[in-house]
Amino acid sequence: MNIVELEYEGRSQRVVRIDDHASGARGYIVVDSTTLGPAMGGCRFWHYESDDAALIDAQRLARGMSLKNAMADLPLGGGKSVLQMPTGDFDRTAVLTAFGHAVNVFAGDYLTAEDVGTGENDMRVVRSASPFVLGLPVDSGKAGGNPSPWTALGVFNAIRALAERSGRDLSTSTIAVQGLGQVGFALCEMLKEAGASLIVADVNQTRMEMAEARGWKISEVRDIHRASADVFAPCALGGALNATTIAELGAPIVVGAANNQLATAEDAQRLLDRHILYAPDYVVNAGGVISVAAEYFIEDEAEVRARVGAISSRIVAIVEQAETEGVSPALVADRMALARIAEAETAPGYRTARAS
Ligand code: NAI
Repeated sequence: MNIVELEYEGRSQRVVRIDDHASGARGYIVVDSTTLGPAMGGCRFWHYESDDAALIDAQRLARGMSLKNAMADLPLGGGKSVLQMPTGDFDRTAVLTAFGHAVNVFAGDYLTAEDVGTGENDMRVVRSASPFVLGLPVDSGKAGGNPSPWTALGVFNAIRALAERSGRDLSTSTIAVQGLGQVGFALCEMLKEAGASLIVADVNQTRMEMAEARGWKISEVRDIHRASADVFAPCALGGALNATTIAELGAPIVVGAANNQLATAEDAQRLLDRHILYAPDYVVNAGGVISVAAEYFIEDEAEVRARVGAISSRIVAIVEQAETEGVSPALVADRMALARIAEAETAPGYRTARAS
């Protein structure tokens, strides 16, 4: 396996293609930036229509991780990996072991963890082949383990901050949640605890039954974005906000965990045109990577809690700046994150440090 350089939206990325016939492992690892530190980003195990679709997703997600890590003030760059879900029976351990060997090609410049389709047990398997794995079970009090509850907490804090800023109280608000996976479900439980009403949808029948058992209001998957609510929380896969769904959105505020919620860059403007407040995804969903980073730096849970707690003031500052300028919060966030990376690149000693 070799590292190749590929151009993605104006910047070069380092890419390894995984194509292991013995296990059936196919996919890509993309390192977008190591300017601020090793490239951190999880491993997605999902169905893709083609190798090209998998590569584009990995490239886009890796770029998003660079912005997310910079914005969360972490000394980490951005990367991501995607594995194609094999068709038919397959040996999951063999696929994840092959993936671990591919991670090693970057010799520590890429650090992996769980993402959509992978969990703590999978990371244990990857760990048997590579030391560059996080999101593993840790001793109590130490940071680490499954990052999803931290992601959910950051999103919850952001929802509460933006709802309150618009004069809403969570206890009398309705939140429409798309996707009841590891993050979405935990988020719903926090919202419920705060007294909010929920409308939820998931393509997975088991998750829907779990929601129904808790008395949460259920929506058809195709209608959840239309639900009349105070906040729409996309917590499934990317692209929830596109020309069609934005025109139909039933909530004035969008805050959710999903990565890459905007299908295209123009969708940020579409939301602005409809006076819908959009909280940039990578700012509010940074709780998971904050936890994973703390595991890497062997920190305590208290430090994770403090950093996740800072997400709400960060998102409010971005929204205020965007309102002052009359632009989308997505634009303000991108500008701030890119400026942080550019500043580090031009800092005295950066190139010397990188070369050593
Ligand atoms: P997950 O795989 O546990 O959950 C995703 C859920 O969405 C599943 O229950 C799935 O059935 C559902 N889903 C898929 N397509 C759907 C659709 N069209 N409509 C409704 N539901 C649908 O994933 P997880 O970990 O909960 O992540 C959710 C999102 O948050 C992803 O976009 C992920 O990239 C992002 N994220 C997750 C983090 C984490 O700590 N787990 C960290 C940062 C972002």
